[in-house]
Amino acid sequence: MLHDDNLTTERPTFVTHLECAQTGERYAADQVHNLSRAGKPLLVRYDLDGVRKAMNKGALSRRPADLWRYRELLPVRHLQDIVSLGEVVTPLVRMPRLEAKLGGAELLVKDEGRLPTGSFKARGLVMAVSMGKAFGIKHMAMPTNGNAGAALAAYASRAGIKTTIFCPEDTPEVNVSEIALQGATVYRVNGLIDDCGKIVGEGKAKVGWFDVSTLKEPYRIEGKKTMGLELAEQLDWKLPDVIFYPTGGGTGLIGMWKAFAELEAIGFVGSKRPRMVAVQAAGCAPMVRAFEQGTEQAPRWENAHTIASGIRVPQAIGDFLILRAVRESTGFAIAVPDDAISAAVDEVAREEGFLMCPEGAATYAAYKQSLADGRVGRHERAVLFNCASGLKYPMPLVHRKLDRTKEIDFMTL
Ligand SMILES: Cc1ncc(COP(=O)(O)O)c(C=O)c1O
Repeated sequence: MLHDDNLTTERPTFVTHLECAQTGERYAADQVHNLSRAGKPLLVRYDLDGVRKAMNKGALSRRPADLWRYRELLPVRHLQDIVSLGEVVTPLVRMPRLEAKLGGAELLVKDEGRLPTGSFKARGLVMAVSMGKAFGIKHMAMPTNGNAGAALAAYASRAGIKTTIFCPEDTPEVNVSEIALQGATVYRVNGLIDDCGKIVGEGKAKVGWFDVSTLKEPYRIEGKKTMGLELAEQLDWKLPDVIFYPTGGGTGLIGMWKAFAELEAIGFVGSKRPRMVAVQAAGCAPMVRAFEQGTEQAPRWENAHTIASGIRVPQAIGDFLILRAVRESTGFAIAVPDDAISAAVDEVAREEGFLMCPEGAATYAAYKQSLADGRVGRHERAVLFNCASGLKYPMPLVHRKLDRTKEIDFMTL
């Protein structure tokens, strides 16, 4: 096996059509699409019987450890269109000290910070850009809270596609800089991500940009789906009891839910599903409010604010899909305040030497809260998603200094 076998061996692909997530209306594959006529996300459908015949666990286990190992369940038809930066399988890191401290069952963190551009946004954007390349798209535009823009900029530049990116003005500096450095034109906008989305929509109408907003483009979710495929394979096809996911647009949560259904259809897993927990920040919790009110849609959350910028999404176009997955899985939606998120960053770093991003830390804070209030049992194996490298975020300054020209009193160090 070559180390890049997944990128050098053509494999059969099985996309049959796309389908409106709301009405089920069918759309042709291999054509450029955004939303359905009903204004809802389109989901990619596969000939899963064909996949079942073409793929088996043994052969899969021998493929290189990157997301392209799941090629039969992905939309890219031809190798020449894959724009890869090395999308490694991310590790599941066990947290034994926290398990002992909290008295819970096995606690695993899927560390998405190892991916190109330092976040799980690489999964979705490598797929969207590869499909964009296949379709000959020349100019992409997107609203972002930071990480998605960085991933789009990187992959699009590599594919020779122009990008224009809009982010809220307080987006972390590192994100705005990496977007610019990786070749995109980026603007800070005095508004939130949905305000940025409106600008992209206008640009699409007026100058023909291709809109890569999450779930307004059908392939990002296919990339994010690989989190569920990987997780299942890493746990030897036994899904965990509960998954905590930091939910903004919710693409990853919806994508994993889709992955589990496809894996069942090809006979790789049974019908048992993890409980899906949508984690939000108390200052921006539209899904939690809708979940608690029992509604199918989640209206805009006004005055959204949180230090976890990736999950500061006041309104999500896939709201009904997030809520459906959470409810079908008998999971729940939970909000955690910013001080609990900061405390969680500290605690996980100190106890386990694992530096989480604030969004990832929100999942730990939510897990802790859920263990304490009984929503998660002490016997339940849990997976938390750390969606970006903690190194991308501001960290506390260190003020302690040492003057090496003076005698050091080691007893005080
Ligand atoms: C680090 C991080 N975590 C979580 C999210 C939310 O992801 P999703 O859109 O899949 O809900 C984002 C999105 O920007 C993010 O950057």
